Amino acid sequence: MNSTYKAFWLESGDLVVIDQTQLPFRLVTKTLKTSAEATLAIQEMTVRGAGVIGNVAAFGVYLAARESKGDRDQIKTLSAAIRRARPTAVNLMWAVDRMMAVLEKAAINKQDLVEVALKEAIAIADEDVIGTRNIGKFGCELIEAIAKTKPQGEPVNILTHCNAGWLAIVDRGSALAPIYEASDRGINIHVWVDETRPRNQGANLTAWELGQSQIPHTLIADNTGGLLMQYGKVDLCIVGTDRTTRSGDVANKIGTYLKALAAFDNHVPFYVALPSSTFDMQISDGIKEIAIETRSSDEVLYMQGLQDDGNIGKVRVAPLETSALNYGFDITPARLVTGLITERGICKANETAIAGMFLDLIP
Ligand code: MRU
Repeated sequence: MNSTYKAFWLESGDLVVIDQTQLPFRLVTKTLKTSAEATLAIQEMTVRGAGVIGNVAAFGVYLAARESKGDRDQIKTLSAAIRRARPTAVNLMWAVDRMMAVLEKAAINKQDLVEVALKEAIAIADEDVIGTRNIGKFGCELIEAIAKTKPQGEPVNILTHCNAGWLAIVDRGSALAPIYEASDRGINIHVWVDETRPRNQGANLTAWELGQSQIPHTLIADNTGGLLMQYGKVDLCIVGTDRTTRSGDVANKIGTYLKALAAFDNHVPFYVALPSSTFDMQISDGIKEIAIETRSSDEVLYMQGLQDDGNIGKVRVAPLETSALNYGFDITPARLVTGLITERGICKANETAIAGMFLDLIP
């Protein structure tokens, strides 16, 4: 297994994951020994982010093969449960379907299903490593071009939403991959990090990741981006995505759409970075056809953080009698997306351009 994976790795045949619910306050891991544990880790967001969800799902199928000693019916049942763990990120369904197709073939050829499953899960993760590096290189060209237009000493200001870094897709993320590449190349950059209520993936995870890599960044409340754009303080937005249709509509963390609207109104380029496993080529209309996850209202009614006593705890932020609605994602229509940064290059967010670059993925 490639040693650069960071969000998870294998230890004695089990899958070890960083428990993202504890970051940035504690760096702790969880060991997943069964497919049910992998399913739960995805559901409870111990691991999250479209790419890593797909990876843990793939290793979950391997764990299913191991615990059922290669029994095909049992693998199917357990894998179906993994596939249902969360509804929006298509990488989850894509990874499980790919694993099951490979296992079907292996069963016909009477191969060892546990061995085949492990090899395929590793292959998926290895492909992500290469993909994310390429996304970084293509995206960095955009940053480099803007850097050339900036007065001496002024950074390129990039706004991002949620966490689309190495905690979300190995090993450099999608939206953060160009930022890491720009930092490696010595380009002067600064990142505006949306806090990303209600779960605060920006505050908890993106700020932590960027801090680990000494990349200059400033945390902002979710509603600040529009004003920063009006002030000319955002050169470029880059976000990730959990599912992108063949026409370029983008599902991403709730609040992404509002940033795209503000970017459009202020002529700020709005890019979406994704590996091709995040395309759902079966569908075209994001608003009608993408299932948006609804999560517990407690995530809105409470906030989690570090207490003065050093423990991680929750506080209620709304009246006791108030109820809340918690959609996890929204849809940014293709017309608001300047371009898609993929592992094959940058393309326009429309059906013709996407088909031109990804013809082999169209069913
Ligand atoms: O609910 P989450 O934390 O899994 O949502 C994650 C995002 O919305 C990311 O932006 C997305 O997965 C793209 S990163 C591969």
